[in-house]
Amino acid sequence: MISKTIQQMLNEQINREMYSANLYLSICSYFTDMELDGFANFFKVQSDEELFHAKKMFDYVHNAGGKVTVMSVAQPITAFDSVVQAFEVTQAHEQNVTQTIHAIVKQAIAENDFTTHTFLQWFITEQLEEEALVNNLLKKLKMIGDNSSALYLLNTELAQRTFSPPSAAKQG
Ligand SMILES: [Fe+2]
Ligand SMILES: [Fe+2]
Repeated sequence: MISKTIQQMLNEQINREMYSANLYLSICSYFTDMELDGFANFFKVQSDEELFHAKKMFDYVHNAGGKVTVMSVAQPITAFDSVVQAFEVTQAHEQNVTQTIHAIVKQAIAENDFTTHTFLQWFITEQLEEEALVNNLLKKLKMIGDNSSALYLLNTELAQRTFSPPSAAKQG
């Protein structure tokens, strides 16, 4: 059974994952409006993944004897100056999410809560992958600069991304 502190931290993390889903849907809207459908697709898939994260945590809290309190989700940023800025917002947000997941792991260790510690290992790996992906795309975009042909090439590449729930979900 998880402690009230861990339950509270996971509740807040679920809310943060739901905020992430809305933030990426907001970025998806920005790209859809620009007719950059590959970038829009990338962020729609990203949004689906964040909802998946929230539900994976939801299931864990209940399986571990706790209860989720669904909270209101803050409105994300809705206007962006550039493609690069949209990715910088994403990068900063993912870095913040990594920090908050690490904080829950620290608490789990302090409480000898091995179950939560193990559960969160999947998220630590996921954050590493997400940060690496965003860092990579941001570097590419900075290289691309004002070259619209290169931007459209990356747009085509990002149109290929699809959402498939990771098989590790079954463990949740
Ligand atoms: Fe997430
Ligand atoms: Fe994320």
